[in-house]
Amino acid sequence: MSDEFNNQLSLEGEALLMALNSLIQTAKIHSDNNDLLKDAVKNFKHLVEKICENESEVLLWIQNSRFYIQGQRLILRKDSANLINRMLRFLENRNIFTLSIDSEIKAVKPNTIIAFARLLDRSIHQDDPLEWLSDQMLHQNMHWVNLESFTEDPEQREDLPAEPQEKEQHKNTSGKKGKVRKSYAHVLSSIKDVARKLSADKNVGMRQSVRVVQKMVDMIAEDETLFLGISTIRVYDDYTFVHSLNVAILSMCLGKRIGLTHEAQERLGMCGLFHDLGKVEVPKNIVNKRGDLSEAEYNELKNHSMHSARLILKLKADRNRKMKILVPPFEHHMGYDHSGYPKIGMGRQLSLFGRIITITDVYDAITSPRIYRPTAMSPNKALEEMMSQSGTHFDPILLKVFINMMGVYPLGTLLKFDTGEMGIVMQQAPEDDRVRPRVLLLSPLANGKYEKGEPADLGERDPQTGVFKRNIQESLNPSSLGIQPAEYLL
Ligand SMILES: [Fe+2]
Ligand SMILES: [Fe+2]
Repeated sequence: MSDEFNNQLSLEGEALLMALNSLIQTAKIHSDNNDLLKDAVKNFKHLVEKICENESEVLLWIQNSRFYIQGQRLILRKDSANLINRMLRFLENRNIFTLSIDSEIKAVKPNTIIAFARLLDRSIHQDDPLEWLSDQMLHQNMHWVNLESFTEDPEQREDLPAEPQEKEQHKNTSGKKGKVRKSYAHVLSSIKDVARKLSADKNVGMRQSVRVVQKMVDMIAEDETLFLGISTIRVYDDYTFVHSLNVAILSMCLGKRIGLTHEAQERLGMCGLFHDLGKVEVPKNIVNKRGDLSEAEYNELKNHSMHSARLILKLKADRNRKMKILVPPFEHHMGYDHSGYPKIGMGRQLSLFGRIITITDVYDAITSPRIYRPTAMSPNKALEEMMSQSGTHFDPILLKVFINMMGVYPLGTLLKFDTGEMGIVMQQAPEDDRVRPRVLLLSPLANGKYEKGEPADLGERDPQTGVFKRNIQESLNPSSLGIQPAEYLL
């Protein structure tokens, strides 16, 4: 027997495709309580669970008319080739090139899986099968499965703005952290895609973004600290996209704090993602201009929030859904006291989401280095500065919740201690001593870079003298030292 036949993963992938096929065929002709159909569901579920034993999902995709499973090409065997090719055509005809199934399928009820199989089958009768399918799946909360019209290259799925250099850190990207990084990278490429298509005047939907935002909400529910950590990613290029994603993350975390439902957090995340979409309509030389803008240029820039609302309306998506995320992007520069732009009179208060995005937008903007302002404000200084506008530009209550969430020294803040050492805040300070967070010490290397050192608790005292071992002297600008806090945190 050749090695190829021994390839377990390929065989399992093949079995999974056959199981999917029989599930679809059986669901077509039998009712939910039919034994054959029940067996088909069981078999399908079992195979998914088996394949993703050590991973969070099964990832199946089609490239050049070949199936790939978990990154490995499926080997075609003579006796199954016909069936596999049939599945290939089945999916390609529906414009499905990536199918991922989350390991949480374990908890999914059989009739939901049957409903999914029937949707897959029926989608062929729709104008845009995938768009229709995604809408249906969204309405029926089928979060455990994801379909895409493009092939997801796993290399690109890790395509973060800055990759950690140490091998050690790669190991750490498995499990939950790896999932967070993946979602970040995925949603970043999806927002870029939307912006690119919009500026090329192409039809574009919200499906891709909605699904990833949904995933992020679920993950924030599990552990918001990881997400707050990843929002410290700052880059010059792609600033608008990274900024939009960070605003989405910070807003969703704040939304969770004030008790918003999952559904509301998702909507808030979408508002965050699209709040600056209108910048694609403003000339790049204005958006990235170093030095002061002329009055005319500033006026042009100020139009971006109106453009954002207009472009959201242009998205190819359900009108109702678009209407729900239109207002906050329009409002995000108006200010709590309406002293910002656009001016529409003092008639009404900003929407709740508008007030949230006003806060997260400013925070992320002033803590990010920009082409025209290479050094950013340190996170704790940014919060101080924002406090001075509490009740004027910012909603005072929401700002308080935000500061509470970020901590006096937010995650990713670079600090200098009286011992001469430096460290990055990796965990918020305890409630009883908000100025003594847990940090990750950095050791300088000969090449001017910094290496990950030991974690240290600033609350730690010398056992002999009872004096704190380290005290914060000042906060530093990570960007001026070429440091990307996220690289060390994730
Ligand atoms: Fe903006
Ligand atoms: Fe913004």
